[in-house]
Amino acid sequence: MAQQKSTGTASTSEAPGVERPMPDKIICACANLDFAKLQEAVAQLSHDSFDALLARTGAGKTCTACLLDLEYYFVELKAGFDSPSGLRHGVGEKPRQRQSLKQRIYGWLDSISPPIPWSPDNWIPIIAGRGIETWLNVTNHDLLFRDRMTAPLQTTVTLWSGEGMRLTQRRLRIQPGEEARVRLDEEISRGSPVSKSIVVGSARIVTKAEFPAMRGTMRPQFEIVAPAGACAVHVHGVTGPGDTWFTVQNRRGDERLFLAIINAAGSRQSIEVAMPLGPASVDDSSAERVRLMLAPHGAALQEVLLSDAAARAVGSTPFGIRIRCERAHKVFLLCATRSLDRFSVDHP
Ligand code: FES
Repeated sequence: MAQQKSTGTASTSEAPGVERPMPDKIICACANLDFAKLQEAVAQLSHDSFDALLARTGAGKTCTACLLDLEYYFVELKAGFDSPSGLRHGVGEKPRQRQSLKQRIYGWLDSISPPIPWSPDNWIPIIAGRGIETWLNVTNHDLLFRDRMTAPLQTTVTLWSGEGMRLTQRRLRIQPGEEARVRLDEEISRGSPVSKSIVVGSARIVTKAEFPAMRGTMRPQFEIVAPAGACAVHVHGVTGPGDTWFTVQNRRGDERLFLAIINAAGSRQSIEVAMPLGPASVDDSSAERVRLMLAPHGAALQEVLLSDAAARAVGSTPFGIRIRCERAHKVFLLCATRSLDRFSVDHP
């Protein structure tokens, strides 16, 4: 939630008022790696890279939440171990470090650059239909970072219809340790044609910390709840302009696939969906194409439907779908049962 310019995001004995971690402090919970084990692993690395540390310890490879810490401690510990005296400092001791020119420049930049609370905008699709609900979850937890409290969050949620009409805006204030959960589909289904079994809109979520603090969890998560099950995914910032790709299989007897495409830009954009791509028998020139024109902040739900000829060509081989966008966008892949009573969702 709060990012500092350049480096210096974690605690060390070098930072004023912040202690070096205790040996039993867990650095990577997924790999059960504490600071003492990390220190030992770095000591055995000699001149190997950060990637070698991850490979050796298995840390940072599961949820990846610890990667920034691992990298920070790796640099700090390497600097200590590489000191000209060859002294290997122990936990709790002040390391004798000779900083590289780059480290000194970053240190100087940190000293003149105040921390800034910052986070990218996030866009999520809102799916509405009979028995289908879309919920937004934003949490403000420190998780494993007990010694680095997060700040209260202010989250603004703006809803747009598929046609790009701004519907509502809500403001949420989320205290540390708390979370907000709000239902979003009701505004989207209100006013949509009754004939449509499923409709899409979008929400822009902007979350800011009230003051600079160390990171917690704040990436929004949306959840699609349907009569036979629910699915959820965390989201990242927008992508594009450019291409977004998915790889899928043609199983239209068992499931329906949809692309939820959001125009995150403030102006219209043309979008081309091309498929199938990838198998040797199907090249770019023979791919089938659909063109969509999305209003500013509009959204579309495009079903992935191959012609009989294309379906025969790909058979059961996975194939690519390319979504080519002129401007900033976000695309999600929804996989639903034929009766639309259960969804799964993914994004690139
Ligand atoms: S905490 Fe390290 S990978 Fe999950």
